Amino acid sequence: MKLDAKALTAMKGKSPIAMLTAYNCPVARYLERSGIPVILVGDSLAMVERGLDNTRSVTIEHMQYHVDAVRRGAPNTHIIGDLPYQTYETEEAALKNARLLINAGADSVKLEGSFPEIIAVLVSNGIDVVGHTGLTPQTANNFRQVGKDTEDAQRILREAEEITGAGAFLLVLEHIPDQLGEEVTRSVSIPTIGIGAGPACDGQVLVINDMLGIGDYLPPFSKQYAHVGQIVEQAAEKFKTEVENRSFLTNE
Ligand code: KIV
Repeated sequence: MKLDAKALTAMKGKSPIAMLTAYNCPVARYLERSGIPVILVGDSLAMVERGLDNTRSVTIEHMQYHVDAVRRGAPNTHIIGDLPYQTYETEEAALKNARLLINAGADSVKLEGSFPEIIAVLVSNGIDVVGHTGLTPQTANNFRQVGKDTEDAQRILREAEEITGAGAFLLVLEHIPDQLGEEVTRSVSIPTIGIGAGPACDGQVLVINDMLGIGDYLPPFSKQYAHVGQIVEQAAEKFKTEVENRSFLTNE
């Protein structure tokens, strides 16, 4: 059964939330079969699917395309669509672009940073919003851990409270010290979903390519559960050999 925003918020303090990203239909299908309750169609697709250096060139059209494919694979899973860089700078733009993702199949949208007025407008128009603070890749100069000094930690705590106060129903915390992840988790009423934010978060999210071992780079806070890249390479090598030595289609 698909969980809505209210049901996910109610899981705080009761049941940890497992979230994975997905960008295409077949992977989304496997995730739904596995029982993963929430799929994030993240703009991380720029880096892990398109080989780019950052997420800033992702467009709303890219996101519509991927949300649509993921929805087809996972009709009964809560899907969060990421609003790309510079698509939520005004209330009108945020509303228009969030509606495009909802119409493409998302149940809710995620946006990076503390924009309480924008979040409040989306929520008052019936759109469920996921916040995201800590490292925010759309505007970051590098991907190093943030929130290490008192001032930055205070900023992240303040942003978490602003995002929660504006009506977001989940909060992604990215690449911050474990202790800060714990402090934010204690101070907000909505579930925190960590990616490099320590074990105290109310849930955890991983980028699917990282966890499956598809790609050359693994962020220090990620965890790899399989080596699918190696399987692809070995299968392709075997096929190539069979074609070249003319055994393909000649053996049973
Ligand atoms: O785009 C994304 O996949 C994300 C996760 C890293 C949380 O925002």
